[in-house]
Amino acid sequence: MELKIQRTTAPAQKPSDPRTMGFGTIFTDHMFTMDYTPGQGWHDAAIVPLEDLKIHPGAAVFHYGAEVFEGMKAYRTAEGEIQLFRPWDNMQRMRDSAERIQLPDFDPDFLLQAILRLVDLDRDWVPEAPGTSLYIRPVEFCTDVDLGLHCIGSAKLLVLLSPVGAYLTGGLKPVDILIEDTDVRAVRGGTGYTKCGGNYAAANRAAARAEEKGYAQVLWLDGVERRYIEEVGSMNVMFKIDGKVVTPALTGSVLPGVTRRSCIQLLRDKGYEVEERLLSVEELAAALEAGKLEEAWGCGTAAVISPIGKFCYQDKCYTIGEENGPCAQWLYDTLTGIQWGRQADPYGWVCKVPRA
Ligand code: COI
Repeated sequence: MELKIQRTTAPAQKPSDPRTMGFGTIFTDHMFTMDYTPGQGWHDAAIVPLEDLKIHPGAAVFHYGAEVFEGMKAYRTAEGEIQLFRPWDNMQRMRDSAERIQLPDFDPDFLLQAILRLVDLDRDWVPEAPGTSLYIRPVEFCTDVDLGLHCIGSAKLLVLLSPVGAYLTGGLKPVDILIEDTDVRAVRGGTGYTKCGGNYAAANRAAARAEEKGYAQVLWLDGVERRYIEEVGSMNVMFKIDGKVVTPALTGSVLPGVTRRSCIQLLRDKGYEVEERLLSVEELAAALEAGKLEEAWGCGTAAVISPIGKFCYQDKCYTIGEENGPCAQWLYDTLTGIQWGRQADPYGWVCKVPRA
């Protein structure tokens, strides 16, 4: 398929102080778009100036949440090169997410090439201040104008770019977590292993309640027994217990995170034993009380690593530590070292953005 490119004639002002950009509210000059219709397949692939969409209000995305997305970043190295981190994994996960809700499949190589071209065109938007990057947000949704609940026919796929600072205000420092015992984020057999917008909408009420009580994030338990730890906020979660790292197994309701996968590999290569298994909240509390819970952290593309200082469950609070633990700090330094090109990439995780 041909990729058309239409450049903006009115480039926007770039943020004057990249350290105050926050996350996800500023967008670059261009976006990628392509459309799918039955019979024709994917067509009209183009990079165009960022603009509002004209979509019929009856489109299924607005009524039945027929939408999946991805999150990845472009990093500027000290040499001024721009690079992505494991984008092939994001392409595959987006296909898996689309398959789950029956949005049309796409050619991952074509989409990645289009993303590289888009980032290249807006490369001046990739910020250079420490800790800043260009967040890449692919999104695919159903455009069928039909209030009947039918199989999906037509779809649109967009890629937006947003220069970002730290995801969590305060940067890398331990946060307090509330273990949620009422709402659940996802259940096995549902959409928990995908990046469907609905998973994130389902998390809003608990997140709002936690925020009101002064907690940074919610720790999610499984939806069946309400005992087993699954994720923290919108991230995967890891615990260092008695020298080993334990992370919830991918049971179907846990997102197979790219950062999670990268942490597991880095930790194992460093000699840590990493267990992917069920971990109950009782086991976690017992480990803490026995002095064996050494560290805990969330991991995801947006926040990278977010150490957990304290968790509270049914009015009882457990303090892990007030400083970043050495393992979380090492993971953060190593991952960001590879992502920003400050250290070698022995894994082939980095994908350079070529200049056109
Ligand atoms: C990411 O970490 O990239 C995500 O998709 C989470 C999102 C809520 C920002």
